[in-house]
Amino acid sequence: MILIVAIAAIILAIGAGGVLGENTSSCGPNFPAACSCGQEMYESEMQYVVNCTNAGLVNTSVLEFMPDQVEVLIFTGNRITELPWNVFGSINNYKQLRIVDMSSNHIREIRGKSYHHVPRVERLILNHNNLSISRYEDEVNHHHPRVFSNFINLQSLHLTDAFEDNSSPQLSEDLHDIFVNSQLVKLQKLHLEQNEITHFKDRNVFCDLPSLRDLHLGDNDLRDLNFEVRCLNNLRFLDLERNKFGFVKPTDLRVLNELEERPNRTANLIVDFNLNPFGCDCRTAPFRAWITTTRVTVRNKDSLMCFHSTGHVDAEPAHLLQMDMGQCADAIAAAATILNTAEDEPHYGDPEASHLQPQAHISGHTATLIFLLIVLTMILLGLLVALVYVSRDKLKYMITPVFDNVAKKVQYTSIKDEDCPEVHV
Ligand SMILES: *[C@@H]1O[C@H](CO)[C@@H](O)[C@H](O)[C@H]1NC(C)=O
Ligand SMILES: *[C@@H]1O[C@H](CO)[C@@H](O)[C@H](O)[C@H]1NC(C)=O
Ligand SMILES: *[C@@H]1O[C@H](CO)[C@@H](O)[C@H](O)[C@H]1NC(C)=O
Ligand SMILES: *[C@@H]1O[C@H](CO)[C@@H](O)[C@H](O)[C@H]1NC(C)=O
Ligand SMILES: *[C@@H]1O[C@H](CO)[C@@H](O)[C@H](O)[C@H]1NC(C)=O
Repeated sequence: MILIVAIAAIILAIGAGGVLGENTSSCGPNFPAACSCGQEMYESEMQYVVNCTNAGLVNTSVLEFMPDQVEVLIFTGNRITELPWNVFGSINNYKQLRIVDMSSNHIREIRGKSYHHVPRVERLILNHNNLSISRYEDEVNHHHPRVFSNFINLQSLHLTDAFEDNSSPQLSEDLHDIFVNSQLVKLQKLHLEQNEITHFKDRNVFCDLPSLRDLHLGDNDLRDLNFEVRCLNNLRFLDLERNKFGFVKPTDLRVLNELEERPNRTANLIVDFNLNPFGCDCRTAPFRAWITTTRVTVRNKDSLMCFHSTGHVDAEPAHLLQMDMGQCADAIAAAATILNTAEDEPHYGDPEASHLQPQAHISGHTATLIFLLIVLTMILLGLLVALVYVSRDKLKYMITPVFDNVAKKVQYTSIKDEDCPEVHV
């Protein structure tokens, strides 16, 4: 009897324990059951992971109560419209935290001081959010240029599909602001795929990331390299897959060559132009020629395709490397001239560098002005000579007495000078 009661009690306890275990989180009482905490294999390493995936959270208040030993935070699939100040609390110091994944949270705003106490975080992932960082503050746009400023050890920043749609033109300028103010001097990898970027308003958008090695710009709407890469001395991979390049400008090819040919580079530059809508025409020919001659490694060059314009008999895409360039000798020669002319590299940090075109414009003006000035001076001199010649008799008459006077004065002076030594001796 006692035995049966004991067994029943044990079964009940186990049952209750099981129910309790199901409903409380391994992270402690402050967490919903959907969050889990503990050591587990993460990227082939045993790490302490806090995982709140699809936990139905609407704010980040649980993050103040994470176990101190947390190394990886996975906080995805929730609905957090705004990250408040001090996401991790104002007194905590998660000294071991190295990876923060806050993807797919519908985040619209990150406050300037959202992230504090993140001295060791190396990777921040904010993919698939709805960020708006425009400098024009209104109820929709929120601009906090110091959002990443506490990530002093950040090495990789993932912003794939992170921004609100249709924010492209302004985006680059705002990004630059953030990069300047956040001092991400150790950042090596930057992911900006799927952000509908059409162009960069600010050419130097990436120039404040001196350690940048991998720049991922795939799945955007870029048509040319209208951002400066020569300030990125350590760049080794430039991903431009699935953009809108119809051809590649010879000046862009030159820029890539210049970067690759730097004497002090330690790594080979790799670019990927795969799956861009290149045209099978003479505008693409310089690129096609460049691929086979450059020292830059063109990844996936064998799968590059080009497309005949509509109306062409065979509208099928063709392999770019097999394109017939027989009629394009002129285009290739013109491009070769551009490729072989060294252009003065803009020096980043130079205030004039960012306004390269206006500067070139001004120097053109200056040259014209100097030329005009010289011509006018010549004419003036000619007129003066003519005047002198025409009125030479009058001048002679006017000048002769003056000469005589001067001559007399000189005579007197020399006499006086000769006298002086005698007086003193
Ligand atoms: C545990 O959760 C289940 C549903 O997930 C619920 O039916 C049950 O009442 C909960 N038990 C406790 C003790 O909260
Ligand atoms: C995090 O939790 C989700 C769902 O609970 C699971 O699918 C995912 O594999 C977990 N991730 C890690 C790294 O443990
Ligand atoms: C955060 O969300 C939880 C529910 O997940 C709620 O109970 C709590 O009041 C919220 N805290 C704040 C500060 O809004
Ligand atoms: C993103 O924000 C805009 C408003 O800024 C809103 O209209 C849109 O529904 C949001 N999208 C998502 C997926 O949250
Ligand atoms: C490498 O050379 C470039 C100019 O050619 C210079 O700007 C850069 O600072 C140099 N880097 C190092 C590490 O010496």
